[in-house]
Amino acid sequence: MNKHIDPDWADSDEFWEGLSYFMFPPERMARATAEVDMIELLLTLTPGSRILDLCCGPGRHAIELARRGHDVVGVDRTARYLEMAGAQAHTAGLAVELVQADARDFRCVPPADAVLNLWTSFGYFDDQEDNQRVLCQAHASLRPGGVLLVQTRSSETFSTHVDSERTWQERDGVLYLEERLIVDDWRRTQGRWIIVDGDGRREYPYVSWLYSGAALADMMKKAGFCSVSLYGDLSGAPYDRKARNLVAVAVK
Ligand SMILES: C[S@@+](CC[C@H](N)C(=O)[O-])C[C@H]1O[C@@H](n2cnc3c(N)ncnc32)[C@H](O)[C@@H]1O
Repeated sequence: MNKHIDPDWADSDEFWEGLSYFMFPPERMARATAEVDMIELLLTLTPGSRILDLCCGPGRHAIELARRGHDVVGVDRTARYLEMAGAQAHTAGLAVELVQADARDFRCVPPADAVLNLWTSFGYFDDQEDNQRVLCQAHASLRPGGVLLVQTRSSETFSTHVDSERTWQERDGVLYLEERLIVDDWRRTQGRWIIVDGDGRREYPYVSWLYSGAALADMMKKAGFCSVSLYGDLSGAPYDRKARNLVAVAVK
C-alpha cells in the first residue's frame, strides 16, 4: 500500500467537498429515480417503510424515497452534503430526518425496515474492525426481519469491468482524471482523483477495501444477519461474470 495515503482520508471534509461536483453531477442525481424504482422492487418495500440511508451524501435516494411516502432517515458525515439534501427536501416540501453522524456509531431509533448503503460507501476504514462495525450498527438499526442492502464494487466486478487503470473526463472546462490500482494482493483498491481547473491542480487520494461477494456475505453473517443474497445490480440480475456491481441483501 502507498504509505503516502492518509488512512483516514474518508474522514476529510476536503476530500468529499472537493469532489462534490465530480461525484454528483446532475445526471447522477437524476439517475436516483430509476435506482429507487429497482430498490423498491428488490426489497419489496411496502408504502410508508422506515428507511435508513446510511452514507446518504446529498440525499439523492433519501429525497426520492421520501417523495414516495417512506419515512426516511439520512445519515452522513459530511455537513455540506446534508445541507444540500436539506435544501432539496425543503424545496420539495418533504420531511427527511438528516443526521450528521459516523456510520460506525449511528444506530437508528426506532429501528428501520431497511438500511441502504449505496454506491460504494463501504470499506473505507483502514482498520477492518471499523468496516465490520458499520455492518453491526446497520444490524442494530433494523427490526427483526428487516433488510440491509449494500451496493459496492467487488474484486470480481473490478476484474471484469475495470479494464483501464486511468481514465479522464472534461466537464465545463474542468479536467477530472482518475487512477485506480489493485494493491495489497487484491485486498484493496488505491486510487486518486485529480482535478485540473483555472485554480491549478488538486489531488484526492484514497485507499479502500475490495471484498469478494463471498467475503462481504461472511462479514454480514458475522454481524448477525441470518441470510445474504448477492446480485449483480439493483435490478436483481445474477451475481455472475456480467455483474457490474455487487449488491448484497442481508436479512436480520
Ligand atoms: C460515494 S458517496 C455515496 C453517497 C450516496 N450513498 C449516493 O449514492 O449518492 C459516499 C458517502 O459516504 C459518506 N461517508 C464517508 N465516511 C463516512 C462515515 N464514516 N460515516 C458516514 N458517512 C460517511 C461521504 O460523506 C459520502 O457522502
